[in-house]
Amino acid sequence: MAEEAQISFGGKTYDFPVVEGTENELAIDIKALRSATGLITLDPGFKNTGSCESAITFLDGEKGILRYRGYPIEELAEKADFLEVAYLLIFGELPNTQELEKFHSDIKAESHVDEEMKKILDGFPKSAHPMGVLSSLTSALIAFNPSSVDVTSEADLYHAIVRLLAKFPVLVSWTLRKKMGLPLDYGDDSLGYVQNIHKMMFKRPNREYEINDTVIEALDKLLILHGDHEQNCSTSTVRIVGSSHAGLFASISAGISALWGPLHGGANMAVLQMLEAIQADDGDTKKYMAKAKDKNDPFRLMGFGHRVYKNFDPRARIIKKAADEVLAQLGVDDPILNIAKGLEKEALEDPYFVERKLYPNVDFYSGIIYRALGIPVDMFTVMFALGRLPGWIAQYREMRLKNEPIGRPRQVYVGENKRSFVPLNKR
Ligand code: ACO
Repeated sequence: MAEEAQISFGGKTYDFPVVEGTENELAIDIKALRSATGLITLDPGFKNTGSCESAITFLDGEKGILRYRGYPIEELAEKADFLEVAYLLIFGELPNTQELEKFHSDIKAESHVDEEMKKILDGFPKSAHPMGVLSSLTSALIAFNPSSVDVTSEADLYHAIVRLLAKFPVLVSWTLRKKMGLPLDYGDDSLGYVQNIHKMMFKRPNREYEINDTVIEALDKLLILHGDHEQNCSTSTVRIVGSSHAGLFASISAGISALWGPLHGGANMAVLQMLEAIQADDGDTKKYMAKAKDKNDPFRLMGFGHRVYKNFDPRARIIKKAADEVLAQLGVDDPILNIAKGLEKEALEDPYFVERKLYPNVDFYSGIIYRALGIPVDMFTVMFALGRLPGWIAQYREMRLKNEPIGRPRQVYVGENKRSFVPLNKR
């Protein structure tokens, strides 16, 4: 196997080292390219650019493989809970019982959010998009937790991490409750991490909260499946903001903004909006299947296909099972869900979709579960953020502890050449 790659330019050949990852991925190390040759690389969207070496998540889109710290996503979703997976992603190993208990009790010790934060939430109109509210509140947390963090200190970083894992679910639940007109509340330390999140979100002031194990299990799985996905748009944002030595909360707030976009975390909302549009159009799935296949129509079947996974999305398989269980257990009879099932069946049997290997992705089923759980459509991306939080934290921590240099891409300038200033009265 090549250990060096050659680049020939201007009549000269230059050698560059080839780096090999633990799963045999190869990369040319071009750190010395500009100083040796005067060239830079041009790669809009960074589709061929490795921004870092990372030991957190491995994915192979062709083979449908997703592993956190070496553990297959299927096993984690089946056997672990979200807090264990969060610990694994952030610290690199599965926790033993004592480590997990300490982690959870350290989180619980930080689960109070300053009451003054409610005034900030109050300032938002009810119609505000929850992702904007969440990003702002996460940023505002800095003002209420100002003690400076030496981000090269593992102890300081640990403290910031447990604080964020404690307070973020409170902010998520407040964002939802404000939308639904419910009183803002705190959690219940006697519950598991995910149970507590569910209770904070859905407890009614006039009703006893009842735990439904199937619902909690499905929510737990959804959060695990969204835990990390290597150097995607929001994760790269978190790392690049953190590379300027901005704190953890500020970097995560930026990641939330990146996730907001419809090309990233916003796709799960798009699925439900599409299903609602089909329902309003007499539930005519055949018409929308035809639109999706018509090359003159920009419409695409939302929740089908994936940029990286070209055979199947391993997360979709897991979540489909959970969706079926939740719908059966809750006895949900929702016309929108029937449209989703009809569409799924038609697409999986249609040669257009079969030939192009277009399968339902994780967003197709996650939207269905969120809807069955009574979560408003524009909160879907917030749920994604809740699941992605440990991944963002793990990536930030890895980047900071390695003391990676500040992220600062270059460009190829294509603007005007030097010209002389023309005074205003002469233009
Ligand atoms: N509906 C109809 N046709 C589709 C769809 C779809 N959802 N997705 C892809 N195709 C077709 C394309 O038109 C193309 O057809 P052609 O070969 O005849 O030209 C072929 O399938 C290949 O598609 P590409 O555009 O090359 O796939 P790409 O990798 O660029 O796009 C993407 C992937 C953006 C996810 C696309 O499948 C899509 O738009 N899906 C719907 C949106 C969606 O669900 N996004 C969420 C992704 S999951 C996530 O982000 C967590």
